[in-house]
Amino acid sequence: MDIKYLLSEDKMPTAWYNIQADLSAPLPPVLHPGTGQPITPDDLAPLFPTSLIEQEVSQERWIEIPDEVQSIYRQWRPTPLYRARRLEKALDTPAKIYYKYEGVSPAGSHKPNTAVAQAYYNKQAGVKRLTTETGAGQWGSSLAFAGALFGLEVLVYMVKVSYNQKPYRRALMEAYGARVVASPSEETQAGRSILAANPHSTGSLGIAISEAVEVAASDEGSKYALGSVLNHVLLHQTVIGQEALAQMEMAGDYPDIVVGCTGGGSNFAGIAFPFLGAKLRGERDVEIIAVEPAACPSLTRGKYAYDFGDTAHLTPLVKMHTLGSTFVPEGIHAGGLRYHGMAPLVSHVVNLGLAQPRSEYQLGCFAAGLTFARVEGIIPAPEANHAVKAAIDEALKCKESGESKVILFNLCGHGHFDMQAYIDYQAGKLVDTEYSAEEVAMALAGLPVVG
Ligand SMILES: Cc1ncc(COP(=O)(O)O)c(C=O)c1O
Repeated sequence: MDIKYLLSEDKMPTAWYNIQADLSAPLPPVLHPGTGQPITPDDLAPLFPTSLIEQEVSQERWIEIPDEVQSIYRQWRPTPLYRARRLEKALDTPAKIYYKYEGVSPAGSHKPNTAVAQAYYNKQAGVKRLTTETGAGQWGSSLAFAGALFGLEVLVYMVKVSYNQKPYRRALMEAYGARVVASPSEETQAGRSILAANPHSTGSLGIAISEAVEVAASDEGSKYALGSVLNHVLLHQTVIGQEALAQMEMAGDYPDIVVGCTGGGSNFAGIAFPFLGAKLRGERDVEIIAVEPAACPSLTRGKYAYDFGDTAHLTPLVKMHTLGSTFVPEGIHAGGLRYHGMAPLVSHVVNLGLAQPRSEYQLGCFAAGLTFARVEGIIPAPEANHAVKAAIDEALKCKESGESKVILFNLCGHGHFDMQAYIDYQAGKLVDTEYSAEEVAMALAGLPVVG
């Protein structure tokens, strides 16, 4: 009765999978906010190195992973796939539950899969410093780690509510040598104008992105790195699903259902896209579930429309499920899921009916996370609890129906730096929040007019 399925290092993927090659309808273009026309690579050049811009627009199915990136990946990859036999028993379900565990990376989540790749390409392009945003701190610590490996300076704008909630994440970034600034800050025009309007702003990913983009765009030696949302970021995460495909084969199973939590969409895409690719090519069918927080419901209550990626409107316009770029979600502990938009590729896939979105409240997610931790031993990141919740719910549906479905979910990170969230949950201090239809409509009223 195997518990974990391990691939040897020589079975680690050597190319990233680009789902754009298999989609029947192309992604809507990214637009220049001034002209309303599709942007050109030159428009992105101040922010990203050419190699990453090329990956952003590539239609090639496979993009080779550079040897140096592969050799760093091998520090923690391939990551284990577990069969959650004790969870199955605790739930008394006929379902088979598997989870891919990305928490074994140095930073504790899936984020280094793209941080290392982005740092590599920036170093190749002669960049000296990377600027970025971080929510819960998983992404910031991943980029800080990657920057340390490649000798790049890293400047992180950390959403203020998380900066205060998670001092040890900040300490980890600083231990890797990064500089961390609470956002909104007085250091940028974007931060100063937000603080002028609301001195007590707790920040949001959209605001922190504005600050990081502003600094990168105005400094010759700096470029910007984004931890999610963009096509190339999702691309780098596909090592997760590719490994899971091989590991499911080792286990002699194939998932009926694949589940991932969605903030900007990268860990979800990482696990889901390789399986979705097999479905699109007519090889195997699969049901895909994207789980977001009820406190930031871009897929389930947002609009599929052109919007800015950041609050100060420094980014191009992308078509995505959005709650409006000025939407500031509640300060829930799943800080990595507090983004007003969703990756254009994930939005597109949901719009095509290829993945089903659902939202979950935080109390139910923490309860699911504790159920999981008490049988599997791993304490999930609050973000990952959303996937745990949906996987448990699907397994309980199987208990009702008597079906023995195979459920695979992405346990995208551990919660070792998020214990304050568990303390607050167990002390009964957390509440569920939901936005009224009026609040959502008000946030959406500010969407830019396009075309
Ligand atoms: C552990 C963890 N999971 C999920 C997310 C959400 O991001 P994404 O949807 O890009 O995976 C984050 C973001 O910071 C995170 O730290």
